[in-house]
Amino acid sequence: MRVLVRGAGIIGLAVAEELLLRGHRVRVVDPAPCSGASGVAAGMLAPAAEATWAAPGVLDLGLRGLALWPGYAERLGVPLAAAGTVLVARDGRDLVEARRQAALLAEHGIEAVPLDPAALAQVEPRLTSRAAGGVLLPGDRSVDPRAVLAALLERVEVDGVDAGVDARVEHDVEVLATGCSLRAPYSHLVRPVRGEAVRLRSDDPPSCVVRGWVFGEPVYLVPRASGEVVVGATVEEHDEPAVPTAGGVRRLLAAATELLPGLDRAAVVEVAARDRPGSPDDLPLVGPTHDPGVVLAAGHFRHGVLLAPLTALLVADLLEGADPDPLTDPRRLLEEPCTTRP
Ligand code: GLY
Repeated sequence: MRVLVRGAGIIGLAVAEELLLRGHRVRVVDPAPCSGASGVAAGMLAPAAEATWAAPGVLDLGLRGLALWPGYAERLGVPLAAAGTVLVARDGRDLVEARRQAALLAEHGIEAVPLDPAALAQVEPRLTSRAAGGVLLPGDRSVDPRAVLAALLERVEVDGVDAGVDARVEHDVEVLATGCSLRAPYSHLVRPVRGEAVRLRSDDPPSCVVRGWVFGEPVYLVPRASGEVVVGATVEEHDEPAVPTAGGVRRLLAAATELLPGLDRAAVVEVAARDRPGSPDDLPLVGPTHDPGVVLAAGHFRHGVLLAPLTALLVADLLEGADPDPLTDPRRLLEEPCTTRP
């Protein structure tokens, strides 16, 4: 097939790469490749840590996404960190949150090991000794999204034209993977949810992903072998430009250094903010529309990196005749077009 992919973030590039591997003719257009959320994302492959009571379908998709990652990373030549996530509670109220997460995971049969403060110190000695307790999620992973984007860009050519203007490209199907700014008539399906992320460089980074609550303030820290530690991420529904705010960055750094006091001496390398593409029900929009020439690969909200390989398979399978996945089928949120009688 001749496929036009609009958007060269991790989703559009992963879809394009899969289609190219299967022998389709693919053109990717994006005036600013890799400039959206995936270029700033921390790279948690953490369906357990990111599971919510509100959207259990996300956990199901996330586990399917995670299962694909080892093979995907190997194929792209990108290392995966496999040390799991440790959930950390600073005080007793935070511990209620950590235990709620553990209870949710237990309901789904996912390993979540409760840790008292002594056990927590054994798992990650750099954590503050004042933590109230935690939970170890050994199945979670992480990856450097910038390394993934670089590997995909080696395999996929991107045309830097304005995706809105270039409507004349010959194609059989168009895949919309433009993050928070879907074109009409789909624009109402995504909303911007700002996240700020701070990149630190430390000579003593934590050994695993840390996701914490600090006096009610959520924070996560994703370490890399290089000494980079990505501290994220605020979650703010807004309709302003996605710029980092003083308050957001202050809260992230306060929570991060409260949990890992050694980071007080870390260098601040980068501060950034991007909009995540949230959907109305927080589930992705991957699949057909009522227009046979338009497929969506959008609405990944907090899970774009985790779900990129799964999305690529779902879109490629769909174009080759498979049924859409009912969990992600965008038509659940789209009205049937009106038909006029002849
Ligand atoms: N998946 C992490 C975030 O969206 O902040």
